[in-house]
Amino acid sequence: MTYGAIVTSIRTPDASGQVADIALGFDSLPGYLGASPYFGAIVGRYANRIAAGRFTLDGVEYHLAQNNGPNSLHGGVRGFDKVLWSAEPFENDSAMGVKLRYESADGEEGYPGALTVQVTYTLNEANELIVEYEASTTKATPLNLSQHTYWNLHGEGRGDILDHVLQLNASAFTPVDSTLIPTGKIAPVAGTPFDFRQSAAVGARIDGPDEQLRFGRGYDHNWVLDRQGQGTLALAARLQDPQSGRVLEVRTTEPGIQFYSGNFLDGTIKGKGGHVYAHRTGLCLETQHFPDSPNHSNFPSTILRPGARYQSRTVFAFSTRRS
Ligand code: GLA
Repeated sequence: MTYGAIVTSIRTPDASGQVADIALGFDSLPGYLGASPYFGAIVGRYANRIAAGRFTLDGVEYHLAQNNGPNSLHGGVRGFDKVLWSAEPFENDSAMGVKLRYESADGEEGYPGALTVQVTYTLNEANELIVEYEASTTKATPLNLSQHTYWNLHGEGRGDILDHVLQLNASAFTPVDSTLIPTGKIAPVAGTPFDFRQSAAVGARIDGPDEQLRFGRGYDHNWVLDRQGQGTLALAARLQDPQSGRVLEVRTTEPGIQFYSGNFLDGTIKGKGGHVYAHRTGLCLETQHFPDSPNHSNFPSTILRPGARYQSRTVFAFSTRRS
């Protein structure tokens, strides 16, 4: 829908053909206008956190809303998840979709430059949902766009995601402080509960005695993807539900992925069909550049300059497999 460029529903069959909606959300607009934790939305201008809502660019210090403890989260008070986009549907022989556009004014939420953003959602006959991002700006600005769908491969409202089996194609992650800001280290996952190079159940190690898990109240971290070459589509994540047989594969051109295990869901939200979304009943796989990059010169740059074109692509591929 045009509000927040939100994907409201994704219906897929399980291994025996039973269709369920595997995306958390609401039945109608008022739910999304209320306290939605970014269900299905495009997040920006800067996905994830910027420390203390502050960064310096070309010698000028900029100040953003501190809407998440001391930090700025997902673009501030009124991020791209809360604005109205314009939409143009399209259809061709093998695919259909919608092109969404948003003009973010110079200075909006404290960010420099008038930014033109286009997000294209395409659904094709290979059962892929392709998300393509494009943007250009009038002044240099940090930019990091992501898609914040909460997945539950049982079907939304059907229990937690702890039995989902996850594989992340990443040998390192970016550890955080207690406010979930990266320390700047790129740490190997080997020997930690963050090693998902071999697939593992989300719940297998989530409550273990680990400082990083304590800071995140579970998984809420950025993984550094193993990839050959920049800007090419690479496998980032593979999520499988042993119960339903549903499989979700995520491929992206981005260097990172935020795996968030729905730790802040606490049963206060009533979603579709009146379903109560309790602790860890959905998980997010947010392809992205690393959080707080404007304050970490060792992270890949997130600065878009006038004349340059921001381009990014993520593919969510749906299939089933009997285990
Ligand atoms: C991201 C953040 C989380 C949380 C969710 C929304 O995944 O990293 O900490 O804010 O969005 O609740």
